[in-house]
Parts: sequence; structure tokens; C-alpha cells
Amino acid sequence: MADEIRIEDIAQYEGQDVTLKGWLYNSTGKGRLQFLQVRDGTGIVQAVAFKPDLDEALFEAIKRLGQESSLIMTGSVRQDERAPGIPGGYEVGIKSLQVLQDVEEYPITPKDHGVEFLMENRHLWIRSSQQWAILRVRAAVKRAIVDWLDDNGFLNVDTPIITPSAAEGTSTLFEVDFFDDTAYLAQTGQLYNEANIMAFGRVYCFGPTFRAEKSKTRRHLAEFWMVEPEIAFCDLEQLMEIEEQFVSYLVQTTLQKCRHELELLGRDTSALERIKPPFPRISYDEAIQRLQATCEKADDPEQQELLRIEWGEDFGAPHETELARQFDRPVFVFGYPTQVKAFYMEPWPGRPEICKSVDLLAPEGYGEIIGGSERMSDPQVLVDAIHKHELPLEHYRWYVDLRRYGSVPHSGFGLGLERTAAWICGIHHIRETSPFPRTLKYMYP
Ligand code: 4AD
Ligand code: MG
Repeated sequence: MADEIRIEDIAQYEGQDVTLKGWLYNSTGKGRLQFLQVRDGTGIVQAVAFKPDLDEALFEAIKRLGQESSLIMTGSVRQDERAPGIPGGYEVGIKSLQVLQDVEEYPITPKDHGVEFLMENRHLWIRSSQQWAILRVRAAVKRAIVDWLDDNGFLNVDTPIITPSAAEGTSTLFEVDFFDDTAYLAQTGQLYNEANIMAFGRVYCFGPTFRAEKSKTRRHLAEFWMVEPEIAFCDLEQLMEIEEQFVSYLVQTTLQKCRHELELLGRDTSALERIKPPFPRISYDEAIQRLQATCEKADDPEQQELLRIEWGEDFGAPHETELARQFDRPVFVFGYPTQVKAFYMEPWPGRPEICKSVDLLAPEGYGEIIGGSERMSDPQVLVDAIHKHELPLEHYRWYVDLRRYGSVPHSGFGLGLERTAAWICGIHHIRETSPFPRTLKYMYP
């Protein structure tokens, strides 16, 4: 009996007979030879059908087998430098093959399809090797996130998805009917994390997050995954140190674990190898000066228009891209104007017009991957901010309590899984990092 194996482990079985269960990815023939690219979910291997070795009817059936036909085959593993595949370098000489289902016309062929068509067929598209690689990278990043936090003293505490109030502005809330009461899908778990740190010290939540942004950019999803660490007795400076350790670990670990996937995606990994602490830190004031200087020097009037910005405005994608371009690793921008940030951020001492916020901008145009801040720790300052943002105080009474019973300086951040995965993969659109993305345009399948 041949061992049933996974393609990712094939190197361990050189010279042996093995059984593989999978699907036909591609097939080409030449005379008495038929080359099948077979995938099993863990990789792709070249399987060779040689006519003289096989029953005539079986060889003919193999020749006609359609893309994505399901099959079980047994054959001998041999090393061959030239054999394509993931990991590649090995070939299976087919001895027997059972067709579970012969597929006639698989809708996604190796030719170019438009993105509309592919999104409509997302349930099938995820089998394509690029999509497969991206979703494996996503899983590796997710795993690295949890590993680093668990190993660094953070307790995973889950926060609710059905919430009574806003935390990141009222304009991006998805409303839900909650037993005749109005509720919203969580924009963040942060406020609950702030309660949790007073019980556990360092915590994180990691789960689906919802934003009803009517945004069509390549960086926005309506449903995405956010990891949110929160730390008691931590100021803005300490927060940045944690973030740079964390992000460096995510990148380096994924580089190690997903070598084949990144190669398949054609990712230039040298840019990722540089991602190590410390990351540069610039103030919002300096960022504005840098942008205005670049804007002045720009030859192209269109580019100039895109980069134009005044102190007090939030950055758009072109600003973030330009700022990140000026550094060789992710860059922290701290001290944003209070008016462009959420209500809970600690005011800057002596400069109430800015707050102790920090965003981390990824290189290569991927924009903000982390938003974070030191939180207000004084109850009266917080109550004033809630009023100023015209939020209903009765919804935040518990949140103010946290500042009345053992308040401490504390900070935290949120990192978007899809943006981080898109950056590491080096792909254009964030939607491909989600198995079934939800955007302004797509809710099917
Ligand atoms: O900057 P944001 O809105 O911060 C918060 O929600 C804070 N409460 C986090 C915290 O301090 N605990 O979002 C944080 C990150 C962004 O930097 C981005 O990576 C991701 O979440 N993100 C999105 N990703 C995809 N689509 C969207 N619409 C996103 N909005 C935010
Ligand atoms: Mg943000």
C-alpha cells in the first residue's frame, strides 16, 4: 500500500510510491506522454502519464480529463529539477488513477478573465494558484499575530460584535435591529479592551470588524479583520516600541513560512527583509512640512494637486504613499490634529489641538496599516470629549467608569489583517486577501 501524502511533503517520499487526492489544475500532452498538474490544497505537483505503463482506456481517459476534475492517483515520486509545481522539483509517475468526477467546462481557464467575472466566481477563483498563495499568506500572518501576542503576555479576550454605540465616528456604522432596539456591528473592540486591561493588564481582541464606508479604494473593505492589542501602564512612546517589534515579527515570520507563496506571487522580498526595528518616527507637523515641500517641487501639476494639503487636514492615499516613499521601512506619524481623530485620544500636553495618536504607514503605497493612540485617562476630559463629539453620554457611562476606578495611562492599536497581508503579498487590491470579500460592490457569493 502506498502512503497517502500531501504535496507539500513530497520531498520526503522520493523513490517511493504514494497516493495523492486532488484536482486537475492543468494538463498538456505530447505523443505517449501526458503531463498533469495536480493540486491537493497544499501544493501542485506534476504527474506524468506514460502510455506504455498504463491501460489504454485509462491513458485515453487521462488525456481527455477536464480542468478541476477530482481524482485519486498512485505513482512513484522522483526528483526532477525541471518539474514545475509548488514546491516543484518532484514528479509523480502515474501507476493508477481513479477519476471521481470528470469536469467538462470549468468556467475559469488559464486565460485572462476580467475582475468582475472573477469576483462573481470567487467560490472557484480561490482555487487559482495566485489566490491560493495570497490566502495562505493571510493565514500565516494571522498565525504570527496570535503567536507574538500570546508569547508577549497578551491575553486574548473576545469583544462583542453587536454593540450599542459608535467608537470610530458615526458615519460608518452598520445598523442592526436588535430586538426592536438599534444596535451596530462593531467598528472596533477597543472600548471593551480598555475595560479588559483593567482586569488582565495586556489584552487583545482579533475578529471581524465592520465599516459602512462608501469607499471604493483598493484599501477598503466593509468587513475586515482587525487585531487590537491594548496595554495598561503604557504611553505613546512605549506603544510605538511594541508596534515595531510586532510588525517586524509578522513580516519576518511570514517571509520564512511562505517562501513558495511569495515566490509564486513574484514578490520582491528584499523590501520585506529590511523590515526590522527601529522604524522612523515623524510628527504630523513634520509630515505636513515634508508633503508641502514635495508638492512645491513636483513638476507634474496633477501630482501637485493630489499632494496639496494644509495643516489640520487628514491624509489621503497620495499623502500616505508619498510619506512612506521617503523611508525604507514603515514610518510612524504621531500627534495628529484632534479634529481628524476619534474622541478618546489623550490630548497632547500643552497642545490641545493635537492628540497622542500614532499611525503606522506601510511602504510601497500600502498606506496606514495601524491606527493607535494613548487613551484619555481623566474622566472629565473624556466626558467633555464625548459632549464635543455629540455622542450620547448614557451609552458611555461604563467607559467613563474606567477612568473613575483605578485609571492608569494606557494605550493600544489596531492592525488590519487584510492591509498587512496585501502589503506582504505585494498585490494591488486588498479584496484578494479576503476569501469572500465584502465591499460596496460585492456581497455575492
Ligand atoms: O485606524 P482605525 O480605524 O483604528 C481603530 O479602529 C482603533 N479603535 C484601533 C485601536 O486603537 N484599537 O483602524 C485600524 C486599522 C487600520 O490602520 C487599517 O489597517 C484597518 O484597521 N482598517 C481597515 N482595513 C480594511 N478596510 C477598512 N475599511 C478598514 N478600516 C480600518
Ligand atoms: Mg485609522
